Amino acid sequence: MRLIFLGPPGAGKGTQAMGQAQAHGLLYVATGDELRKAIAAGTPLGQEAKAYTETGRLVPDGVIIALVKELLAQAEGAKGVVFDGFPRTEPQAVALDEVLSESAARIDAVLYFDATPEAVIERLSGRRVCRECGATFHVAHNPSKRHPQCDRCGGELYQRGDDLPETVKNRLRVYAEQTASLLDYYRSRGLLVRVDADRSISEVRTAVEAAIANAAKAVGKGQKPS
Ligand code: AP5
Repeated sequence: MRLIFLGPPGAGKGTQAMGQAQAHGLLYVATGDELRKAIAAGTPLGQEAKAYTETGRLVPDGVIIALVKELLAQAEGAKGVVFDGFPRTEPQAVALDEVLSESAARIDAVLYFDATPEAVIERLSGRRVCRECGATFHVAHNPSKRHPQCDRCGGELYQRGDDLPETVKNRLRVYAEQTASLLDYYRSRGLLVRVDADRSISEVRTAVEAAIANAAKAVGKGQKPS
């Protein structure tokens, strides 16, 4: 199964994606996480990506597509892939289709996390991330019991630089200008499944699980998700 989690920044894609990938034995490909790791490690990729991510602009397509190809090469043994935060432009979506078609594969469903700008601004302003394991929390909706340390590993929690108000505004504008058109791209291919992401984390989880079960059923029958 190959799934895309698509939606505005802060809609809750990452919160759901990692758990679903683990539950279904899928490779988890989150381009934002990979870029942050590369920036922290000071690799050439990180040095190139830093100025873009800090200001909420998209990293150039060529860089991202090369990164995803590298990550997919590690997919051996996985039962599929969850893409989180990729693709974000039409050239990225086309490149993904081409890469998958080389192994006679395709995207099975695109889960669209539909959340209002008010909800995402509130979520991003309260998000805290673990420096060690990358786990995500929210000061009100999903607090770490050991705040300001991570529940899972005891690592230090921090606020992402691009979650500050000015950069959030820019990320939302970039999403509207460069990513939102992918909704039509996947809708026209019969792959888009809307998830109402303006609900609690557990309600969204239930909706995501239902959408994945439905997609799995459709894959089994060789159909598109309904
Ligand atoms: P990336 O890391 O992908 O950021 P994003 O898409 O903006 O997504 P977020 O991680 O901000 O949000 P999310 O939807 O995963 O929300 P989360 O689950 O954390 O990208 C960062 C940057 O990297 C980009 O700006 C760009 O520069 C670059 N980049 C990455 N990919 C790229 C690509 N393909 N092409 C070009 N450039 C790329 O939840 C948010 C908060 O809300 C958390 O605190 C969480 O606890 C809370 N929360 C989650 N769900 C709920 C809920 N249902 N109710 C209440 N609170 C909730």
